[in-house]
Amino acid sequence: MKRILEVKNLTKVFKKANGESHTAVNGISFDLNEGEIFSFLGPNGAGKSTTINMVTTQLSPTAGTIKVDGEDIQSSPINARTKIGIVAQHNNLDRGLTAHENLLYHGRYFGLSKHESETRAEILLKDFGLYDWKDDYVKSFSGGMAQRLKIARAIMHKPAILFLDEPTTGLDPAYREILWEHVLRLNKENKTTVFLTTHYMEEPERFSDRVAIYNKGEIKAIGTIDELRKQIPSESLIYLKVDQTSELFSKQLSKLGTVKSLKVVDEKNYVIYPNESKKALTEILHLFEQSKTQLENIQLSSTTLDDIFIHLTTDEEEK
Ligand SMILES: Nc1ncnc2c1ncn2[C@@H]1O[C@H](COP(=O)(O)OP(=O)(O)OP(=O)(O)O)[C@@H](O)[C@H]1O
Ligand SMILES: [Mg+2]
Repeated sequence: MKRILEVKNLTKVFKKANGESHTAVNGISFDLNEGEIFSFLGPNGAGKSTTINMVTTQLSPTAGTIKVDGEDIQSSPINARTKIGIVAQHNNLDRGLTAHENLLYHGRYFGLSKHESETRAEILLKDFGLYDWKDDYVKSFSGGMAQRLKIARAIMHKPAILFLDEPTTGLDPAYREILWEHVLRLNKENKTTVFLTTHYMEEPERFSDRVAIYNKGEIKAIGTIDELRKQIPSESLIYLKVDQTSELFSKQLSKLGTVKSLKVVDEKNYVIYPNESKKALTEILHLFEQSKTQLENIQLSSTTLDDIFIHLTTDEEEK
């Protein structure tokens, strides 16, 4: 299978305002195949956009190598750039141009003929609901309109690899579906590889071939969702919401025979990995009878990508 992206030991160290160093990306390595849909998931500030910015030639790495379709991006950045489409997290449209001009200039820059650019721009402006605003300047656009134009621009030239950095943030549900229709069509007809970051877990669940869970500059797990599910201690989970989590209550929970392990998610929420889920529910409810901690909600569910994400990105209480 053809490798479209090869990343080795990629590292980025930033200097903070106080002079300290911050390692946003800490020597990560991964490869993507042609036609693969890959989700790169991680908490806010984990380093996802920094990774995308380096891989798409917008930011120089501190160390490491990146190849796009076999081309080293440091020695031949222009060749690499022609194969890439990017929906950046921030608004990087040309605000002094109209919507139509943004698309046309992009198409021409990426080697489409004038006719091809016009045809493709018209289709995309219509599909993304911007045709009636095509001659308006981007600076007058709402957040959602600008996001739709960024998406249209990124897919204008049918790139070999498409980077989507939280593309559906700010999009209404109807346009989310239109985005995915276009992306899946490109993936099918053009074998476009997709590198997605998102905080909406239903998107990787619906569309991804593989997922990486990334936190604090490192890839914690990579594989299909089923492969990642095997890294969760149990197949069902108990979500527990209390008035206030505490060390004492966490210890009491941990000591229950039916609790395999638990995580303190925040000041009100626990995720509990039970040995025997129904017995664990009874034991936990019983615990509240003797505790000052107040129960607000308790729920049993089977593991989802959300659970895998939480498991791999929050610290676990030692049992
Ligand atoms: N230009 C910069 N200078 C200094 N620090 C930076 C710079 N860009 C990013 N960082 C830092 O690197 C870390 C990772 O940021 P990044 O934007 O990659 O996170 P992210 O995973 O994309 O988060 P989010 O989900 O919020 O978009 C953060 O701590 C951020 O403050
Ligand atoms: Mg980001």
